[in-house]
Amino acid sequence: MKELIGLRDVRHTFHTANGPLPVLDGLELSVPEGGFAAVVGPSGCGKSTLTRLVAGLMIPDEGEVWLHGERVKAPRPTVGMAFQNPVLLEWRTILDNVMLPLEIVPTKLTKSQQQDRARYLLDLVGLAGFEDKRPSELSGGMRQRASLCRSLVHSPDVLILDEPFGALDAFTREDLWQTMHEVKKAEPFTGLLITHDLRESIFLADQVVVLSGRPARTQYVLDVPRTGTPTLDDLYTPQAADMLTILRQQIEIAQGRTDAKDAA
Ligand SMILES: Nc1ncnc2c1ncn2[C@@H]1O[C@H](COP(=O)(O)OP(=O)(O)OP(=O)(O)O)[C@@H](O)[C@H]1O
Ligand SMILES: [Mg+2]
Repeated sequence: MKELIGLRDVRHTFHTANGPLPVLDGLELSVPEGGFAAVVGPSGCGKSTLTRLVAGLMIPDEGEVWLHGERVKAPRPTVGMAFQNPVLLEWRTILDNVMLPLEIVPTKLTKSQQQDRARYLLDLVGLAGFEDKRPSELSGGMRQRASLCRSLVHSPDVLILDEPFGALDAFTREDLWQTMHEVKKAEPFTGLLITHDLRESIFLADQVVVLSGRPARTQYVLDVPRTGTPTLDDLYTPQAADMLTILRQQIEIAQGRTDAKDAA
């Protein structure tokens, strides 16, 4: 299948007051159109930096970032992003918050079509009836759902999620995982998810990329076999346990706790 996101031997060093900080050192990533990659790795290894490179918000010192067969050299409007703490504007209603990207990214939709699209997305994530509420009137999980709608409203072909469910309780998080599968079915996109939750990675992604400690390189790639939409029960099968064991061992290697040969 055609590659949509591609990183080739990406290297980057930040220049800080304390001297050079090498962050990325040989990142490789290939996500086909419609694929969903999860990226896991130790805290501070360079995961958010990776998302900024894919979105074109920064350019690496070395190596190549490709999107849609084009080298990424500037910010890309065809990318949607959602983060751990959704920043919704309190002086706007939920509907107006969701429509915000359409004020920035050029659109052919009329105002009423924009509203219809925002309402449709809110309905898709279970927030019908909350269009006129303010962000502070919603729970954390509901705000994250609204933020998801906002990142999808301009129909991006790439959705980047940087620990979007990290601040939620376990049950709300699991609800949102299921919502993500419904959203992807209705609004196909190519996904890049940053997470610290290994169960989340195998539930949502078809490819889990483990990054080494900083400076990060691609240490390990696990393909997650998919036959239809998973259920939460699928996380308690022997196959899931095997995948989680492999990923946990890889994270330990990335954290420098285990030698690669011990886990082989
Ligand atoms: N603009 C910047 N200038 C200087 N250093 C930076 C900059 N952005 C990030 N860093 C540093 O680069 C390293 C990687 O940061 P990054 O945010 O990509 O890590 P991360 O893997 O997303 O971490 P976490 O899991 O905690 O979210 C960190 O040490 C961070 O302090
Ligand atoms: Mg981060």
